[in-house]
Amino acid sequence: MEELAEHILDIARNSIEAGATRLTIAVAEDTEENYCCLSVVDNGAGMARELVRRLMDPFFTTKSGKKVKVGLGLPLLKDAVERCGGRMEVHSAPGRGTRVTAEFPYHHLDRAPLGDIAGTIATLLAGNNHLDIFYRYNFNGREMYLDTREIRARLRGVPLDTPEVLIWLRQYLSENEEILHGGEDYEIARRAG
Ligand SMILES: Nc1ncnc2c1ncn2[C@@H]1O[C@H](COP(=O)(O)OP(=O)(O)OP(=O)(O)O)[C@@H](O)[C@H]1O
Ligand SMILES: [Mg+2]
Repeated sequence: MEELAEHILDIARNSIEAGATRLTIAVAEDTEENYCCLSVVDNGAGMARELVRRLMDPFFTTKSGKKVKVGLGLPLLKDAVERCGGRMEVHSAPGRGTRVTAEFPYHHLDRAPLGDIAGTIATLLAGNNHLDIFYRYNFNGREMYLDTREIRARLRGVPLDTPEVLIWLRQYLSENEEILHGGEDYEIARRAG
């Protein structure tokens, strides 16, 4: 996968498949401290300890309809993390939900860029009108967030996954991300590292 946002989409889809109604997606990047962390926390069904242990096995899936019995979402993220000497953790408990975290060295040449996170969030919300997402992005100590519960309250009954709302939401996220990056040429900072 070429973008961390694609991994986040996969991980968050697992959460939705596990019945989650609320997701917290957090990304933090620090060019000085050389880290890029992402986490997806859900309130879905969770997993027993035995299941968590088998998660990184690419042939492990609980999906029944699959032609080829593979589950690649988590192993692919693990691969991406290990290629850069980063760390990944999965914490889960039945009935309590799941937390997946991955940490990369920001400046590592093999680290995929964050990519289209706005698109990922819009994709997750499309067709999942009852899903709430809290997204937090921190770049060099400056932070932005989006809470669909706040937006929902302002929409007064208009579904969150109405195309116009999703387009606005994408734009809002992209613009705020640009503002956070503003002032510093982070691409140059990245190459220089
Ligand atoms: N957030 C989660 N909550 C509960 N169970 C999960 C969660 N994430 C993963 N799992 C369990 O771990 C299994 C493996 O997940 P993984 O994403 O690696 O593969 P998959 O979802 O089965 O297949 P793929 O992602 O390739 O479509 C899932 O089938 C599911 O049983
Ligand atoms: Mg999956």
